[in-house]
Amino acid sequence: MRLWLNQLNSAIPDNLNEPADLALYELESAFPGISFDLCEQASMGDGYRIELLNGETGRLTGGKTGLLYGAYRFIMDRLCGSGYSSPVSSAPKYALRMVNCWDNADGEIERGYAGQSLFFRNGRLDYDRDRIRMLGRLLASAGLNVLCINNVNVHFPAQLLLEDYLPDLSVLANLFRPFGVRLMVSVDFSQPMRHGIPTADPLDPAVRDWWRMTAERVYAAIPDLAGFLVKADSEGRPGPFTYGRNHAEGANMLAEALKPFGGVVIWRCFVYNCRQDWRDTKTDRPKAAWEHYAFLDGEFADNVILQVKHGPFDFQVREPLSPLLLGMKKTKLAMELQLAQEYTGHQIDLYTMIPMWKELYEELPADNIMSLAAVSNLGNDENYTGHPLAAVNLYTYGLLAWDPSVDAAFAVTRWCRLTYGFTPDQEQALVSLLLSSRRIYEKYTAPLGIGWMITPHDHYGPNPSGYEYDLWGTYHKADRNAVGIDRTHTGTGYLDQYPEWFRKKYENPGTCPDLYLLFYHRLPYDFRMQDGRTLIQRIYDDHFEGLEETRSLADKLLSLPFPEPDSDVIRDRMNRQLYNAREWCDIINTFFHRLSGIPDDKGRIIYD
Ligand code: GCU
Repeated sequence: MRLWLNQLNSAIPDNLNEPADLALYELESAFPGISFDLCEQASMGDGYRIELLNGETGRLTGGKTGLLYGAYRFIMDRLCGSGYSSPVSSAPKYALRMVNCWDNADGEIERGYAGQSLFFRNGRLDYDRDRIRMLGRLLASAGLNVLCINNVNVHFPAQLLLEDYLPDLSVLANLFRPFGVRLMVSVDFSQPMRHGIPTADPLDPAVRDWWRMTAERVYAAIPDLAGFLVKADSEGRPGPFTYGRNHAEGANMLAEALKPFGGVVIWRCFVYNCRQDWRDTKTDRPKAAWEHYAFLDGEFADNVILQVKHGPFDFQVREPLSPLLLGMKKTKLAMELQLAQEYTGHQIDLYTMIPMWKELYEELPADNIMSLAAVSNLGNDENYTGHPLAAVNLYTYGLLAWDPSVDAAFAVTRWCRLTYGFTPDQEQALVSLLLSSRRIYEKYTAPLGIGWMITPHDHYGPNPSGYEYDLWGTYHKADRNAVGIDRTHTGTGYLDQYPEWFRKKYENPGTCPDLYLLFYHRLPYDFRMQDGRTLIQRIYDDHFEGLEETRSLADKLLSLPFPEPDSDVIRDRMNRQLYNAREWCDIINTFFHRLSGIPDDKGRIIYD
């Protein structure tokens, strides 16, 4: 098993209490020939400055945690072969660089593809301290600093993290503290009702008191807890709507309780009607978040951050940027990404995400948000991410959260070098396979931004109409003539939620970028794409190409000298991806061919 930074000692001592102790330990054990002078300047926070005075002496200046980030930066630079002819300084773009684990107290992970929980077993916090320290190193070296260990769907007994399990949680917080990682807890909005209070109404004085006292108790045990993460009124979770209150009233109530301790409320905006009647054409699910939140812009307390999924649906392979991320100028926002490959191949298929994140930033000014969050792809598999190559997503996510202008190829190359130490040619081959993997997956799955043609609930493999007559608001409405939903002004009006420059880019099917075409438009199969092909031909071509490219990717990947046991795991998963890609290609093409009756121009095999 190879993790990045496997060049460092595999055991991390358990007696290092401060980030500075850890920084010195990591530096001295990585480079025994260099003596380091560490100089703490509190005001620098996570920032640092590194100088190599001559070959043998280094000076690292930084805030409390900045010293640690500086140490890892120096170690990684040196391992990657960068020189230090002049000092290097850096500070993160976002103060909160968060990882959200969807771990349940019973040890299962919702949408987890790397085994069981690293933190819970049998309803209790129960973990391997060495693995937690290794995770601390992985997070800190990637620059990540907030870890929410429990699922946003808070199933009993996870509520006890704020109650009986608080002492255990505090022990875990101590373990992460030297790594600069602060814990966060997902909370159940109705939790006061476990204590004889008949309501969870955020304006009820007894409810407010309960949260205030709870915050006091929690912060006495864990003074640097980052805050509470909340999924409310979403997919059956309790929330303020039950009491006729809006989400500013709900979030502000918790914010008031956390305020004296410097905690934040991370309030998720994944709110939509998950019991839609498929016959209902008035409701268009992507519009939901804007309808619930945009009118509340400016109403949230200053320690509330709205956490918005990057797209308006739910982590599909291709979705537009959520309109909330462009439109809520008076509210603190975090963008939520998903490292867990729920719709993107279950950590079986290769899917490197940073090219997609960089596309989001082409339209998202980095200052529109003040934090990034990502749903974790971690589990207790030996390599932490199931597929050894899925770790690239955790690492590069950290680099992005530190500096959203990071170059995708640079970030991926760095991960490859720190993990495998291949020759330059092999490394170049691996980097380009990883960078191409998202587009390949996109080609063999649902076409041109339409999404959702995936096996319901499990979300792996094709099922073009699996969600078509279901409750989730995720319809493609393919018939014998056309496919898609018109989301322009004359359709559902979804595009009206965006600023004009954005609308203009997508509203006309003749000029809308191809890859988003079926997200915004309902089009006949003989619609002419900008390159002259018909829509149906483009769908066929993409699918055949996606399958061919997967085959070529497999050949190239499997010729690389991965060490054991990674090579076995990679081979096994690649074979499963080949099977999956063929299923997707044939089923999607057959689906559209049967509906449209239009043959493939190139006469390739499509099943009747
Ligand atoms: C998706 C996912 C759920 C998850 C939800 C969320 O719907 O399938 O498992 O709970 O997103 O983000 O809250």
